[in-house]
Amino acid sequence: MNTEIKIFVPATVANVSCGFDVLGFALDTVGDEMMIRKVSQKGIKITKIIGQDLPLETHKNVAGVAALALLAKTDTNFGFEIEIIKNIKPGSGIGSSAASSAGAVWGINKLLEGRFNTTELVQFAMEGEKLASGVAHADNVAPALFGGFTLIRSYNPLDIIKIPTPNELMATIIHPQIEIKTADARKLLKENISLKEATKQWANVGGLISGLYSNNYNLIGRSLQDYVAEPVRSTLIPGFNDVKKTCIDAGALGCGISGSGPSIFALSKGEKTALKVAEAMKAVYDKIGIEYDIHISKVNKQGIKILDIK
Ligand code: HSE
Repeated sequence: MNTEIKIFVPATVANVSCGFDVLGFALDTVGDEMMIRKVSQKGIKITKIIGQDLPLETHKNVAGVAALALLAKTDTNFGFEIEIIKNIKPGSGIGSSAASSAGAVWGINKLLEGRFNTTELVQFAMEGEKLASGVAHADNVAPALFGGFTLIRSYNPLDIIKIPTPNELMATIIHPQIEIKTADARKLLKENISLKEATKQWANVGGLISGLYSNNYNLIGRSLQDYVAEPVRSTLIPGFNDVKKTCIDAGALGCGISGSGPSIFALSKGEKTALKVAEAMKAVYDKIGIEYDIHISKVNKQGIKILDIK
């Protein structure tokens, strides 16, 4: 039995415009690193967090809470220590809390020789999401754990479908340096939407899924429209409409809010266009005078990766 594992846990883009709370995909070049060690003392201990100021107390830390949810389903007489190198900024909209939650349960499960299946791991990781945002949504933890694009077809019972990713699909993400808490961004949403809007929304979900299966880049682009969250949440992101317009002009297939924001994502066919889109996004924030991080990444089809195991 292995006793120590070091992993890369990807950042993720949730919602993907039309799929509020049900669609997401994982990134390849942005993510956290986590070390998980089996120890004789029972329970979960977060020993170190590098890069961000986050609570070490197990019950206050999303990784701790998710790991405890998993441990509660075992009868092990040992425990685990977790160390996190936090590269994904909390409140950035690219699945920071999801990465910690997903990484903790995935790593522990590896050291438990794969006792739980991936859907069960999603269920545990959702406890971390509940702590972070008040709602146990799975659209970030599912792509982190499964890789690629995922669809949460049902929450109860949990039914997750992994969707294929066209090879040339690239994501460009800009993170303007403002913080939006998911809990706050959720409070803005309307309780009800009209039948007319709902019809357009589910038509686009169908279009996006169909485009991903059939490598139809144009259809993917046409389907990246959101009538639920974007109209209200975009008001929290300075320059959002300009970024969206300039991305499309630069050749992006489509553009929208990443998760609950403030990050904005665009999908493109090919790296050349993704780079052009990055320049277009940067120009908007350079003009407004807001600092940003920018990421260009393939879609990560594999999910969490092992960096070292002993
Ligand atoms: N689906 C969630 C939301 C994702 O939009 O609130 C949060 O990252």
